[in-house]
Amino acid sequence: MGQPLNLGIVGCGAISAQYLRTIDRLPQVRLVAVADLDPERARAAVAAYPGVDVLGVPELMADARIDAVLNLTIPAAHAEVALLAIAAGKDVYCEKPLAATGEDARRVLEAAEAAGVRVGCAPDTVLGTGTQTARQAIDDGLIGRPVAATATMVTPGHERWHPNPDFYYVPGGGPLLDMGPYYISSLVTLLGPVTTVIGAASRTRAKRTIGSGPRQGEEIPVTVDTHVTGVLVHESGALSTLVMSFDAVATKAPNIEVHGERGSLVVPDPNHFDGEVMLTRLGDEGPRPLPVSAGYAGAGRGVGLIDLAEGREPRAGGTLAFHVLDVMESLLASAHEGRAVDVESTCERPKPVALDGLGAERQSGG
Ligand SMILES: NC(=O)c1ccc[n+]([C@@H]2O[C@H](COP(=O)([O-])OP(=O)(O)OC[C@H]3O[C@@H](n4cnc5c(N)ncnc54)[C@H](O)[C@@H]3O)[C@@H](O)[C@H]2O)c1
Repeated sequence: MGQPLNLGIVGCGAISAQYLRTIDRLPQVRLVAVADLDPERARAAVAAYPGVDVLGVPELMADARIDAVLNLTIPAAHAEVALLAIAAGKDVYCEKPLAATGEDARRVLEAAEAAGVRVGCAPDTVLGTGTQTARQAIDDGLIGRPVAATATMVTPGHERWHPNPDFYYVPGGGPLLDMGPYYISSLVTLLGPVTTVIGAASRTRAKRTIGSGPRQGEEIPVTVDTHVTGVLVHESGALSTLVMSFDAVATKAPNIEVHGERGSLVVPDPNHFDGEVMLTRLGDEGPRPLPVSAGYAGAGRGVGLIDLAEGREPRAGGTLAFHVLDVMESLLASAHEGRAVDVESTCERPKPVALDGLGAERQSGG
């Protein structure tokens, strides 16, 4: 193995602990420094990781040791932080969505191309064994020609558990922009890019009440749709039906099902790396689990960085993330305009991930 990728993290909130745990067991990645608008949060995040510097954002961007910036800020700050990293000549890997708007995301990709740096973007969950085993099954012809998929995500809303849930209810948030990246990245991985969408959307409440933490009981405004449904027409001709809701309680529908002419697959939660893939073939009495055949096994958030570290275009990549954001914005446009909307962008179906176990956890981290 060559030199590890020297990484700086910007944004040390709720999700950062998961990344820190993964990075600690990736020999290809070395965490050099972290930064947050709130330096206390940055300090607390790396308390269990000796040798990691806590810097201000400008100092981190100017740090010549750092090759790549992991951007774990809130969606409204994704583009601003990514553009700073790109201007400093660093690769950038961003939490989802790539930016709060397609316009901002386009600026990020254009700046990266001009600077000759790479852009990766969550979700990397779809590089795990769940989505990748399902993809392998489709590529092996186990369901015949794919004709359709369903994707269902129903929750009463993240304000029940997240201490600072404001960003979930402003542009860049909502069930579609928050959870859609998992589902649509998985659907594009399974069935290829989307050309047209038809959407409908609603919202139930103008305010939400924070359910935990120091701000418990505080009301926050809702300025986005909180139930979004629609149909995605894939370039292949397959049709995916999507339901994304922060307005309802629960569902027993599988997270994702893919139907082919000769079989149907139940695909595990695309917000997780693993889970059982179930196959029912024409004539079978019922579904049977498929053996794990592809993807990163034992993975955690941050495995998408491996491609950057090993010098490849990231499979959890900027072009895919931009297409997914474009699909989501087109779906909302369709809902508001009451007509089908063509999706302007496209992307290649991301390359598959061969079955690969991650190393055991190192000793230093939490
Ligand atoms: N919380 C989760 O379970 C979860 C899961 C998956 C993905 N994500 C994604 O991760 C991202 C962060 O979510 P979170 O829950 O950790 O949010 P959070 O609000 O807990 O943390 C975000 C952190 O970023 C910092 N920050 C904001 N703007 C900044 C800027 N311009 N410069 C430096 N620091 C800045 C904030 O001070 C805060 O500490 C979001 O894009 C979210 O969609 C979150």
